Amino acid sequence: MSLLSCEVGARRTRYLRARLQLAHLPFVKTFDQFDFGFQPSIDERQIRELRTLRFIHEASNVVFLGPPGVGKTHLSVALAEAAIQAGFGAYFMTAHDLVTDLARAYREGRLDRRMRVYLAPKVLIIDEMGYLPLDEMGATIFFQLVSARYERGSIILTSNKSYGDWGSIFGDPIIATAILDRLLHHSTTINIRGESYRLKDRRKAGLFPRPEEEADRPAPFPSPEILQNGPRRQGSASPRKTGAPLTAPGRSTNAG
Ligand SMILES: Nc1ncnc2c1ncn2[C@@H]1O[C@H](COP(=O)(O)OP(=O)(O)OP(=O)(O)O)[C@@H](O)[C@H]1O
Ligand SMILES: [Mg+2]
Repeated sequence: MSLLSCEVGARRTRYLRARLQLAHLPFVKTFDQFDFGFQPSIDERQIRELRTLRFIHEASNVVFLGPPGVGKTHLSVALAEAAIQAGFGAYFMTAHDLVTDLARAYREGRLDRRMRVYLAPKVLIIDEMGYLPLDEMGATIFFQLVSARYERGSIILTSNKSYGDWGSIFGDPIIATAILDRLLHHSTTINIRGESYRLKDRRKAGLFPRPEEEADRPAPFPSPEILQNGPRRQGSASPRKTGAPLTAPGRSTNAG
């Protein structure tokens, strides 16, 4: 190998490492480290398609749904890592931290400027949507973010809540519907219905019941067909620019 190609290789490694750091990932894991055999509910064809990164070129979104420990964050991070390797910018935040950050920016009168941090990367990963409910301000800010990225940049989102339960995240079914409408228009949903990888060793030790012992209970997540058809619309809203006043559908200020 020539000195020049060594130097080019080293520079690329440094560049990728810097991009990975900028992406703020909680850990770096790849698809090769994911045991698909452990999670048979995942359609590997869907994953292969996502790995082409076509969804990024199309500014389409990816949503991983499922209970704790099934690999939602792992797969999101793996997609982000692949995107960075391919030269795309990526940024990772939990839903809670993101909304807290933007709410602070709003209070300090710099929402537009701060919003750019989340609009600039081609891929924005929003993790753990639904573990904590959002207040009215949080829901409105989240709506603005999803509207502003709509058809411009991909969102990879993870949630433990099925779409039908998103009303409870936002405290309002109308804003939840408006957000889902934009998020799902161009999107892929990966609905993982397996058991927690974190608990597999403890299950082996007999500390938790096996899923077949819980088989009579209704599945917490709806079938992919239902997801594909989307939630029933309960209202509609017009797109809003980032700079628009901080109001959301269903939360009209009712002037007069
Ligand atoms: N199928 C798998 N093969 C290999 N490792 C896995 C698999 N599923 C999960 N893991 C590992 O188990 C841990 C938990 O996975 P992950 O953080 O992706 O879960 P999650 O679905 O995001 O859960 P939570 O909703 O609690 O955040 C991680 O260390 C992840 O790398
Ligand atoms: Mg997670």
